[in-house]
Amino acid sequence: MSTTFDTLAALVRPDFPALRRVLSGAPVAYFDGPGGTQVPQPVVDAVSDYLLNHNANDGWAYRTSVETDIALRRARAAAAAFLNAASPDEVLFGANMTTLTFHIARAIGRSLSPGDEIVVTDLDHHADIDPWVALARDYGAVIKHVPLLENTPLLDIDAYEALLGPRTRLVAVGLSSNAFGTINPVARMAAAAHRAGALVFVDAVHAAAHATIDVATLGADMLAFSAYKVYGPHVGVAYCRDALLDRLDFPRLAPQTPKGSRRAESGTLNHEGIVGAGAAIEYLAAALGSPEGSLRDRLAATMTRLAHEEEALFDELTRGLRALPNVTLYEPPPGTPRHPTVAFSIQGHRAQDVAARLSGERGVFVSHGNFYAATAVAKLAPEASAVGGIVRAGLAIYSTPEEVARLIEGIAGID
Ligand SMILES: Cc1ncc(COP(=O)(O)O)c(C=O)c1O
Repeated sequence: MSTTFDTLAALVRPDFPALRRVLSGAPVAYFDGPGGTQVPQPVVDAVSDYLLNHNANDGWAYRTSVETDIALRRARAAAAAFLNAASPDEVLFGANMTTLTFHIARAIGRSLSPGDEIVVTDLDHHADIDPWVALARDYGAVIKHVPLLENTPLLDIDAYEALLGPRTRLVAVGLSSNAFGTINPVARMAAAAHRAGALVFVDAVHAAAHATIDVATLGADMLAFSAYKVYGPHVGVAYCRDALLDRLDFPRLAPQTPKGSRRAESGTLNHEGIVGAGAAIEYLAAALGSPEGSLRDRLAATMTRLAHEEEALFDELTRGLRALPNVTLYEPPPGTPRHPTVAFSIQGHRAQDVAARLSGERGVFVSHGNFYAATAVAKLAPEASAVGGIVRAGLAIYSTPEEVARLIEGIAGID
């Protein structure tokens, strides 16, 4: 990769084989990043190298097993750098964010007493709601919901602070909304939760593709994201503070030695996926071509540059959509911090039909439905929800102005 370039997108696009796919006479424009991003060749190479040359179970004395241990350690260290975790031992891998969250919730549930309170939000993906709601059923916990400010995808932070009390044990909140892009004031919310003596679980799945994640600055006791939304394979990644890993009663097998991440992880992991997840983080860190600084420093440089470029491109996208008379956008108020994901509907057209037409006519991929942010989508877009949901378009590192123009033209052509 060279260091002279116009945009990050121009620099990285040759690395993504999926961008060479042509559909309806145009290279595919992937606006489905909030549902899953494309994968660069070095990540594919790392996965296939693992499977071809090092594939083994971990922890044994023979060569490929030792190589597997080394590869997993390297990926865990990359994930720790990605999160600013104090130690790779605080990094947990699992099938996906949802499964990891159910697993962590189960451990937390075992420490709850009936009447203990858990705060969830009406904006979140249900992967950060329902594992906690399950604890109400299993352990008699009480669930409190942070409401939305009327008709906006914005949390009512005053209402949130009023919900906290001496029985609050956990606050579960998303760093940014996968449906609307809204960035929540998580550091402020975490500080309030800690003052009340509660733990904080952060869903960083949507945010991880757009920001430098820092568990320390956020005040997250636990946090989870998915590698497949950040240019990696289908693997979930979680952070859990060291002292909590010691304290929580994770489900595990009797012969298992509870050491390092093994305090929470169980079974044989998805080695090739984990190797790919680490390679995706290393890819992002190397994107600007600078050999200077730690992995985290280089990653932060890429993410800062990406955020800057995405902001300008997202502005073009939202301005273009707002100018179309038959398009309804579901947006937070102007000036709200936001990641580059926009939700909308087109009058008289079902979201699924819009997505199918954009794919079939323009090679433009957008998602439709409620994206499991079902509570917020039902509240903010009740009519669209009744006929299958809304349309969502999100930017990724490879998004270009030409693609944004093609998306807007495609929508303008649906009348
Ligand atoms: C914000 C958010 N949280 C959680 C999830 C669930 O992630 P996973 O598919 O890894 O379980 C998603 C997936 O779409 C998401 O966007």
